[in-house]
Amino acid sequence: MNKLGPARKAATFAAAATLAIAGVAGCAKEDTGGTTEGGVALVKAGALTTCTHLPYAPFQSKDDTGKVVGFDVALIDLVAAKLSVPQEIVDTPFEGIKSGADLNSGKCDVAAAGMTITDERKKVLDFSEPYFDATQALAVLTGKEVKTLDELAGKRLGVQGGTTGEEYINAQVKEKSLNIEVVSYKDLAALQQALATNQIEAAVNDLPVWNEYIKANPGKVVVATGFDTGEQYGFAVKKGNAELLKTLNDALAAARSDGTYDKIYATWIGEKPAS
Ligand code: ARG
Repeated sequence: MNKLGPARKAATFAAAATLAIAGVAGCAKEDTGGTTEGGVALVKAGALTTCTHLPYAPFQSKDDTGKVVGFDVALIDLVAAKLSVPQEIVDTPFEGIKSGADLNSGKCDVAAAGMTITDERKKVLDFSEPYFDATQALAVLTGKEVKTLDELAGKRLGVQGGTTGEEYINAQVKEKSLNIEVVSYKDLAALQQALATNQIEAAVNDLPVWNEYIKANPGKVVVATGFDTGEQYGFAVKKGNAELLKTLNDALAAARSDGTYDKIYATWIGEKPAS
């Protein structure tokens, strides 16, 4: 026996019909993605989908409410605004981001991960104009006297898997035949945890990331030395996605000229270095 009155029945039917239509439309959307007013194709209609690898503060990390925030997030929000859609962030391992696999498979439209522009990566990704300068830095627990890589002989040095920091250290170890045990961690949190709990003597990562860690954990670690690797970060799109790349570069250029970039920089990074 159906206990619903005619009105409820009609409403239920209507709801079911709407759901069915939504289901069909949802499928169609998933097959074809979406296109914004300006003609930019998106992997998922109604959103600019960003791939990143968390955590990487101050560029991307979760705030107290679980929302992903940071310098990169704020800049990509400008791009999303240009496309009149919200940004949706997907957290995924760095390997798939830098190899182009995630963009190629349609997991996301754009990669924003504090990612350094390298010649190798340029072969598999199309990068935006550089949006941030970075170098590598060696961090140690406060009170440790390490100043150079040579002093780490016989010790363990932590790096983050798949990053330019890992590449740099491996190249140094090889070139200078250093007797260092390089330990690779799957993300920044694991690397910082290993350093904080003394499982490694020192850790290498991008300087702004250590500066942020020191801000958040005063007195715990210090930057012992820097390596002037002269890196620049870029956002990336799938090879050949010229429309989205142009939107990215236009948004960056506009942000730089109207002061928005500087505001975002001040919020997430701090004082701008004199240039
Ligand atoms: N800048 C370094 C690189 O490109 C590290 C980036 C790591 N980023 C991240 N979101 N986990 O290799």
